[in-house]
Amino acid sequence: MRNRQINVGLGTRTYPIFIGRNSFRNGELVDSFGLRSRRYVVVTNDVVGPLYFERVAKFFSNAGAAIDQVIIPDGERFKTQKTLSSIYDQLIEKRVDRSTTIVALGGGVVGDVAGFAAATYQRGVPLVQIPTTLLAQVDSSVGGKTAINHPAGKNMIGSFYQPQAVLIDLEMLQSLPEREFKAGLAEVVKYGAIMDAAFFLWLEKNVTLLMKRDLDALGYAVEQCCKSKAKVVEDDETESGSRALLNFGHTFGHAIEAGLGYGAWLHGEAVAVGILLASRLSVLMGTLTQSDWNRIQQLLSGLGLPVDAPDLGRDRYLELMGYDKKVLDGKLRLILLKSLGKAYVTGDFPKDLLVEVLDGVGR
Ligand code: NAD
Ligand code: GLY
Repeated sequence: MRNRQINVGLGTRTYPIFIGRNSFRNGELVDSFGLRSRRYVVVTNDVVGPLYFERVAKFFSNAGAAIDQVIIPDGERFKTQKTLSSIYDQLIEKRVDRSTTIVALGGGVVGDVAGFAAATYQRGVPLVQIPTTLLAQVDSSVGGKTAINHPAGKNMIGSFYQPQAVLIDLEMLQSLPEREFKAGLAEVVKYGAIMDAAFFLWLEKNVTLLMKRDLDALGYAVEQCCKSKAKVVEDDETESGSRALLNFGHTFGHAIEAGLGYGAWLHGEAVAVGILLASRLSVLMGTLTQSDWNRIQQLLSGLGLPVDAPDLGRDRYLELMGYDKKVLDGKLRLILLKSLGKAYVTGDFPKDLLVEVLDGVGR
């Protein structure tokens, strides 16, 4: 598999996404990414650290840099102010200054919390993302959203803070638990559905290879997703418009996650079903064809993702969807499909069609 590089073009803050296999064997690469720090502090968790810290440490130390680590506990429930404070404490204890780069090594949780620590420690220190889940490789490590949760809601405190580079080692996906891997595939399907019909077709043809975690297939898929994400971020870095398209399926998905109790379904599992509900509404709106809806369902199902929405009851769905952050001026806004491969944001859909979609759940 050849190495691939994509740039996220943001003027003077442009940065590379490097996609490789065993990318961390060769310390010389550090220079080619324009990383110039003499010191790197890797923030990771107690699952990913034991697997990959040594590999990453060698990568930076081969390039002559000093390397250190901060370990946080594993899991979404630790994406908190307390964990953030413990990172600051350790950075201060290690006398980290503004010339040090923070390296976020892990899935989306580590990326978000370490990213926010980098954004705020001493008013901002350089950040490198090394994403180790499929979700993080195709979505959360790119684009600069960083956050911690508040008891009142997910990602309530955070900032936009772009990394200096995103370094992706596809080999790291081999140790990912099966359920986490499949959940990441839901976000992969999302890119095809919202903005890339040709990629959607490629996914349909490569289900078997993807499920086997074939590195060539994964490399292609991650590259296409990162290209799409880079494009969206370049167009609308701080989500004043089109970046919201990335939330396709997420309003329904968040309702499912909250309705079943966080953790019962993985985020990607809820997004898979959310994609189908948003697509069903698109069919009722007369934009998406039934046969394209069938294709989306078959692809998600082929990738081992759930396709039947849990029966929370229409009113509970509406209530939970009404709480979503994307409600502006009291109006629910959804991402729908104009066709397979083209999405749009709208607050303008008949409520009775949404009710029809929700009444169809469990039938
Ligand atoms: P996660 O970070 O919790 O990782 C899932 C599990 O896999 C964890 O137990 C983790 O320790 C483990 N793991 C990670 N890499 C592994 C590997 N290579 N081998 C074995 N185990 C590994 O979950 P996630 O799905 O990566 O991320 C979810 C988080 O991402 C949420 O907090 C969500 O809010 C956030 N997110 C952020 C953005 C963004 O743009 N910043 C986008 C989407 C999601
Ligand atoms: N995952 C949504 C975004 O980055 O905007």
